[in-house]
Amino acid sequence: MERSLSMELVRVTEAAALASARWMGRGRKDEADDAATTAMRRVFDTVPMQGTVVIGEGEMDEAPMLYIGEKLGMGYGPEVDVAVDPLEGTNIVAKGTWNALSVLAVADHGNLLHAPDMYMDKLAVGPAGVGHVDINAPVKDNLRALAKALNRDVSDLVAIILDRDRHAKIIHEVREAGARIKLISDGDVAAAINTAFENTGVDILFGTGGAPEGVIAAVALKCLGGEIQGRLVPQSQEELDRCKKMGIVNPNQVLRMEDLVRGDDAIFAATGVTDGELLRGVRFKGNVGSTQSVVMRAKSGTVRFINADHRLERKPNMVVEE
Ligand code: FBP
Repeated sequence: MERSLSMELVRVTEAAALASARWMGRGRKDEADDAATTAMRRVFDTVPMQGTVVIGEGEMDEAPMLYIGEKLGMGYGPEVDVAVDPLEGTNIVAKGTWNALSVLAVADHGNLLHAPDMYMDKLAVGPAGVGHVDINAPVKDNLRALAKALNRDVSDLVAIILDRDRHAKIIHEVREAGARIKLISDGDVAAAINTAFENTGVDILFGTGGAPEGVIAAVALKCLGGEIQGRLVPQSQEELDRCKKMGIVNPNQVLRMEDLVRGDDAIFAATGVTDGELLRGVRFKGNVGSTQSVVMRAKSGTVRFINADHRLERKPNMVVEE
């Protein structure tokens, strides 16, 4: 992969963030998602690469754009697999709350797990926690091990968990162990990434979220030297069959970094749509839209934060009939 591809890819997430941020707080998650997807698709056409979507907006028959199998890019350049989530946190944007992102990840062809759209149990930590936690271990053991690795008390740790009924047991166990918790309404990609940045105040992600989001987060954590461990949670015979089709015969199998993203060359890009601990959301002022992005590459370990002002050609008409 060319080094310059990183900079090209960040233009893609910037465009998607600018488009979907117009829908912030307007209660219309589908419109926000469509705006992100359309903008992302348009800019992909200007990127010199031969990409294939392996994680996207759905199968060909259910998504008009960025569907699994769709070809992206200018048709020359590196042959890569692409995972996209044009708007990670559709409800977040609809409500105007925290941590909506536009994200994508690319890796050499064949290196990303083609995670089906189902749930995945996840455990994510930053670099200090690598090798010290285990998705099969009790919550309290993982917290103790992480605290030791970070040279802190368990009570100093913050676990980030999606606020869902299914997480009642984990939440209880974290509280019992004495750690603190940040419950989030949505957005476990940002949550996983945030564990790798000390200034976010988040140390470990526990819980079940989307499997595609797990693979995207794995690319980011690979670039950052952190770790995510996953386990698919098929909830029907159909989902079980999908696992088998992917070669995952035992769905209880723990998916480690090398299963989620193979090799050492992968790029991750994200632009903030709404404000978050790591990235500021989009600001509009007159004919300028300001974005903040992070783009990173696993091979070099380079992590770049990019602030950009974009001249906007025209303001979309956002008046909608309620
Ligand atoms: P969307 O952007 O597709 O709405 O996903 C948001 C999200 O919160 C993910 O970050 C997370 O992995 C998943 O949904 C959790 O799923 P559920 O809402 O079913 O608990």
